[in-house]
Amino acid sequence: MESRILTLDIDSWQPPTTNERWIEAVESGQVLYFPRLPFVLARDEQKLLRPELLQKGVRNISLDTERRLKGVVGDPAAQAAVTDLVGRFAAQAITLVHSLFPRYEGRLRVAPTSLRPVEVSTRAQSWRADDRRLHVDAFPSRPNRGERILRVFSNINPMGEPRVWRVGEPFEAAARHFLPCFRRFSPLQAGLLHRLRVTKSLRSEYDHLMLQLHDAMKFDLRYQREAPQQTFGFPPGSSWICFSDQTVHAAMSGQHLIEQTLHLPVESQYNRDASPLAILTRLAGHPLI
Ligand code: SIN
Ligand code: FE
Repeated sequence: MESRILTLDIDSWQPPTTNERWIEAVESGQVLYFPRLPFVLARDEQKLLRPELLQKGVRNISLDTERRLKGVVGDPAAQAAVTDLVGRFAAQAITLVHSLFPRYEGRLRVAPTSLRPVEVSTRAQSWRADDRRLHVDAFPSRPNRGERILRVFSNINPMGEPRVWRVGEPFEAAARHFLPCFRRFSPLQAGLLHRLRVTKSLRSEYDHLMLQLHDAMKFDLRYQREAPQQTFGFPPGSSWICFSDQTVHAAMSGQHLIEQTLHLPVESQYNRDASPLAILTRLAGHPLI
């Protein structure tokens, strides 16, 4: 398989120029990788990088756009320090996305920022929640009707440990592989799930297909083993971006990651024909939302 990771030599969170090729790459589901773009922690902040900071039963620490911090145990000073660190990353990640993709500015919906202090290779998880299996991101309770999920990641591991991912085949190839075995969409069931508040809004056929794809991929151990893929370790001090609803990915190992999610309406893309919504609509042969 041709590499799905495009390495870019930028070293600033506000690079002065961008490039059509980079935009085309990210919108076609490739990972943009920045080996020389660290998210820098102050010396005092290094001591915040420990799993004991996590509240029991939660996977990540998160900070929302109102600066509400969730998932941290510790005194007010520790809480304030984590808020500063995570808030600074959010600002830098958004600046980077505005600089690389100027058209997205003013159109992004900013989701919470997450700090992930847990080692992912040994985490016990059901197959459906196991992000060590190749998948595209799709969330059962939050239908998005085609809205995009753009994510900015930095590896901030202080022990030299890489964040090891597998990156799979292009979205369309994966969708073609699994589409024939998908269950039919039931508007009746979607209505029921919404009334029962299992979903926060009405699930569209698009959401149904994305969830089927997420689950079918993770469930299929042969696909996990044999599908075209590359393994890549993102070293500490590096950052990367991808549309995680489109890039087939799995996180195999690593500890201490920081991540910003941004949502983008599909019509605000440079090329909406490259979106999962456009691809699945073409393959299904009828409108999905
Ligand atoms: C994922 O989105 O599947 C996990 C990414 C990561 O934690 O490295
Ligand atoms: Fe994921």
